[in-house]
Amino acid sequence: MLEELEAIQTEALAEIAHIADSPSLEQFRVDFLGKKGRLTAASTRMRDLPKEEKPLVGKKLNEARQAITAAIDQKGADFAAAADSEAAAGVDVTLPGVPLPAGNAHPLTQSLDRIVQALRHMGFALASGPEIETEWHCFDALNTPKDHPARNEKDTYFFEDGTLLRAHTSTVQIRVMESTPSIPLRIIAPGSAFRRDEIDATHLNQFTQIEGLYVDRRVTLADLKGTLEFLFRHIFGENTQVRFRPHFFPFTEPSFEIDIKLQIAGKEDKWIEIAGCGMVDPAVFEAVSRTRGDDLFDPDKVTGYAFGMGVERLAMIMWGIPDIRLLIENDARFLRQFG
Ligand code: PHE
Repeated sequence: MLEELEAIQTEALAEIAHIADSPSLEQFRVDFLGKKGRLTAASTRMRDLPKEEKPLVGKKLNEARQAITAAIDQKGADFAAAADSEAAAGVDVTLPGVPLPAGNAHPLTQSLDRIVQALRHMGFALASGPEIETEWHCFDALNTPKDHPARNEKDTYFFEDGTLLRAHTSTVQIRVMESTPSIPLRIIAPGSAFRRDEIDATHLNQFTQIEGLYVDRRVTLADLKGTLEFLFRHIFGENTQVRFRPHFFPFTEPSFEIDIKLQIAGKEDKWIEIAGCGMVDPAVFEAVSRTRGDDLFDPDKVTGYAFGMGVERLAMIMWGIPDIRLLIENDARFLRQFG
């Protein structure tokens, strides 16, 4: 029996060397180790052996099974490795990759960036202030009387403690003047403003403004005009016509609204309003001086100009966007067009 087992093992190991693929290897495994395999058949016959021979034959049986199993495992691993390298050899590294879709900045962000960049080139520094504001920063310091319509609960979002969602970014003018250590002061402040407006094609109740403020000795209306004309021609094209139309704001005197002439082929030319501006009202300098307790903003010594514009509005003109709501709906089909 021992010789027989030895012979099976030798035969098996000789045979496995010639096996060339996985199916044959599986067949080989069944032939030797399967339920009806040769080794299994031999082990069944062990029952009939005299008991003093059993340990030795059992040991040999195990040895043979282990040797054949190890040979099968090794062969299987060889086949797997060969299949891997074959697959790798079939990879064409010159094929184009799978393109990842590249995103793009939101059109509002793109417009804002363009305006901010132009103003920073002209020496304006970025400033910011809180969206939840005091009545002082939003209205009183900006020379807005208690009975002004904007101070109505129908127009502005008030909290129970008397604070509010800022109705414009002009609040930042006050905050910066209250805290600056020195002049000249030349800042822009992009940010959200909130008004209790009915949402429609041209209105949102939260929108974006850019505030500008320049204070120094002898700042004049000519500086204001030159700067803003330059800005709007830079944004809308060199030949853009810019018009300053007298207006009223409590915090500037004189005040203007700025219009640009929109010239679209096939349409009638149209002046459209894009910003408010003016020379800082001395009453604003007085209010700031009262909180500061010094004379840095003494209205007899300094002058300044301020401006504010709605960025959604500008973006709509820049890109020809017909409905302001498109800017907040996050519809990828719309947004992808600005890539
Ligand atoms: N704050 C004004 C508005 O929201 C715009 C403005 C800013 C006007 C600065 C004059 C000076 O309508």
